[in-house]
Amino acid sequence: RIPLILDVDTGIDDSLALLYLLASPEAEIVAITCTAGNVPARQVAINNLAWLELCGREGVEVSLGAEIPVIQPLMTTEETHGPQGIGHAELPAPSQEISARHATAVWIDTVRSRPGEVIGLVTGPLTNLALALKLCPELPLLLKRLVIMGGAFNYPGNTTPTTEWNIAVDPDAAKIVFDAFSVVPADRRPVICALDVTERIEMKPEHIAALAEAAGSTPAEIISPDDALGLRSTASNTVIRHLSDAVRFYMEFHRDQDQGFLAHMHDPFAAAIALDPSLGTTRAATVDVELAGTLTRGQTVADWRGMWGREPNADIVVDTDPAEFFRMVIDRVGRFARE
Ligand code: BDR
Ligand code: CA
Repeated sequence: RIPLILDVDTGIDDSLALLYLLASPEAEIVAITCTAGNVPARQVAINNLAWLELCGREGVEVSLGAEIPVIQPLMTTEETHGPQGIGHAELPAPSQEISARHATAVWIDTVRSRPGEVIGLVTGPLTNLALALKLCPELPLLLKRLVIMGGAFNYPGNTTPTTEWNIAVDPDAAKIVFDAFSVVPADRRPVICALDVTERIEMKPEHIAALAEAAGSTPAEIISPDDALGLRSTASNTVIRHLSDAVRFYMEFHRDQDQGFLAHMHDPFAAAIALDPSLGTTRAATVDVELAGTLTRGQTVADWRGMWGREPNADIVVDTDPAEFFRMVIDRVGRFARE
């Protein structure tokens, strides 16, 4: 099985990424490390513990990491992910405790004990990884692969006109990470899932309905915007019920942004890529992060043509088949929820 560290700011789409990994037999989630982003880090940890318990997987270590970005003040986005970060879902309070190990210790101990084996998947701001790199500069060479959801290249931002959320929350951390990974050989370059591709991963009510069906559940009541408003899901399957309550909030948010009654599933896509990179076509580039711009701080810039004279430090996903991705989500998460 593929050992994996999941670093998250859970988060509605982080939640589905977690469920996808739990549902994937080839994945061994070694630990979940929590960072501040969508909601404060402690709430992120509680959300992860709650999902794990709901799924009967309370053995997975959940570790708290950075509660603030490396330099700039923290911003959170409850309007996007709900007051607790899981939309309209109300998960039972978890009984398992947050791990005594700090997230940076988890990253470092894990890669040192299993050199060349572990995949790191970051679907939140890069703060924890940046801090771990300061303590363990050889970390990039100890990982099997790093997959990041973050950035916007030939595409507008979702936080400012040029910045994507995970990078905008902690641009200094992102810069530390991209710089540090410039030492890895070409076959171990970080794989970047940026808005250019993740905004093509549109989850719609019919996907939730298909998930409910695959789980053997009664329908998840997320049929149309008007029907859905104010309703709690009555799905008979608890995982599907909570998931649809979470995702409905995300769909309402996207609708209120004039993007349609759908939800961009950035993080689950990155999770799928982490397990199977062949789901995406990639292009090598040298990536850097703008830190000085008065309008563009946090922008990810890709040099596709070697103009900077620096070796590529990233493989950016430029194309994928969203339908194939949703087939896998429905099949895996549906079956997992049914069991
Ligand atoms: C990213 O920002 C967060 O709100 C999502 O969870 C995702 O990781 C998309 O820009
Ligand atoms: Ca996230």
